[in-house]
Amino acid sequence: MPRPLIRAHRIRSRVHQLGRALARDLAGTPSPLMLALLDGSVCFVADLARATPLPDLRLHFVRASSYGAGTVSSGSVALETLPRCDGRTMVVVDDILDTGRTLAAVVAAARAAGAAAVRTCVLLDKPSRRDPTGLASADQVGFTIPDVFVVGYGLDHDGRYRHLPDVCVME
Ligand code: IMP
Ligand code: MG
Repeated sequence: MPRPLIRAHRIRSRVHQLGRALARDLAGTPSPLMLALLDGSVCFVADLARATPLPDLRLHFVRASSYGAGTVSSGSVALETLPRCDGRTMVVVDDILDTGRTLAAVVAAARAAGAAAVRTCVLLDKPSRRDPTGLASADQVGFTIPDVFVVGYGLDHDGRYRHLPDVCVME
């Protein structure tokens, strides 16, 4: 059963900090685009976008999946086509930075779609799992966690537990 690791109230206050920091960093940037990776970032981006007080923020969703089942990913990343974003700043939002392969692929795709600058923002970071071909670090991280498999607040295990309000460890 999932056991709480990061409680909802801690997530809430950290996400508010991240949103305010993002708004400060992006102030004056013309129509920044928040690109949320489905399905895992669904809870995080819903809260983060509402905690980012920028009048001209755009929100776009793309499905990204690293092929694999259960708690292992095989390494290849499937990504939907990104919208053109010539000259604009893109903020890629994901639930977790694990091997870093997903974000490396999305950052490359964002540049190919014309983004002038690409920032990355993740709720969770598992630095001990990083792959040499993956993105080394995200610009903004909510919480750094050890090498445990987590579910809840958008993260799933074979489709289950996404709806849990806390980030939990599977055991
Ligand atoms: P990466 O490409 O290895 O960095 O992994 C990215 C994706 O793997 C994340 O967006 C998650 O969907 C999934 N993932 C990695 N670690 C976990 C975990 O602990 N729980 C649930 N999903 C995870
Ligand atoms: Mg994901």
